[in-house]
Amino acid sequence: MEKARQKQIKDYKTKEIAALRAKREASSSPIPEEISIYRTWLKRAIKNKKEPKVLILGATPELRDLCLGLELATFSADISWDVIDAMTKVMRTQGNEKEIIINTNWLDLDKYLKANLFDVVMGDISISNLRAEEQKRLLGIIYKLLRKNGYFISRCDIFLPNKKRKSFEEIYSDYLSRKTNWLGFIVEYCWYGPKRGEIYNAKSGFTDFKKMFSYFFCELKEKKPKLRDNDLEKFENLISHGKNVIHVVFPKEIFEKMLKKYFRIVTIEKIKYTFSEFHPIYILKKK
Ligand SMILES: C[S@@+](CC[C@H](N)C(=O)[O-])C[C@H]1O[C@@H](n2cnc3c(N)ncnc32)[C@H](O)[C@@H]1O
Repeated sequence: MEKARQKQIKDYKTKEIAALRAKREASSSPIPEEISIYRTWLKRAIKNKKEPKVLILGATPELRDLCLGLELATFSADISWDVIDAMTKVMRTQGNEKEIIINTNWLDLDKYLKANLFDVVMGDISISNLRAEEQKRLLGIIYKLLRKNGYFISRCDIFLPNKKRKSFEEIYSDYLSRKTNWLGFIVEYCWYGPKRGEIYNAKSGFTDFKKMFSYFFCELKEKKPKLRDNDLEKFENLISHGKNVIHVVFPKEIFEKMLKKYFRIVTIEKIKYTFSEFHPIYILKKK
């Protein structure tokens, strides 16, 4: 895994990969319905707070635009300057003086930042970039950096062990009837499709994206499904920047046990698409 981690970090640090990530229509970016949930809860979390401060785990432009659009003091932390740079270029609010960019590992944030500094920490599928032990450490750091009653608001990947597995055809049919979108098509295939046993290890949480993409493309080649809106290009883009990403996802119960050490689960928000069941937005409050 260590080698894989080094490869991942190296990959994040290439301009080409970063530029592909920044194609927001064709990556794991939050979509408007999800951004609207983030907005609602962010506004609740900062209500009646004097000069609220927000920390964002990652360079996700949609979250940074959201916070900066509300004129909030926004700290955005990402390990890769190339990603920060590419993501900043696609922001609506770039160059806003209210943003402080921190180019570091999230696991070092408490070395640079004071405890009890933030009213809100946000992230969009951030935790799963880390291995199990690191995930626990990060949750402890978020806890430390949050003020009393502070919120941690984040879309998180979870695995649902009792969810029925689907064939490629069933997932394709959900896509055709718009129960899922292009991203849901591929992620549902990964965790709930026929090749899950070879792609996902529920014990370690490790998901092998390289294998998943190659199986998925074999299915596309063989079954030639009709795709909409340049969705094939979106798959290809996601694959080019995502194939080496470390992705560690735990069964819901285990993940929530980790969260509950530091946070109370206020609610878990979902959108209309089927993939939101296992990519929901957790609204957490510091214990
Ligand atoms: C937060 S997720 C972003 C996924 C999100 N849905 C998006 O596309 O906006 C991936 C980001 O996390 C960053 N990252 C991964 N591991 C990190 C770590 N340990 N510390 C800081 N940043 C990290 C990567 O550089 C990458 O930009």
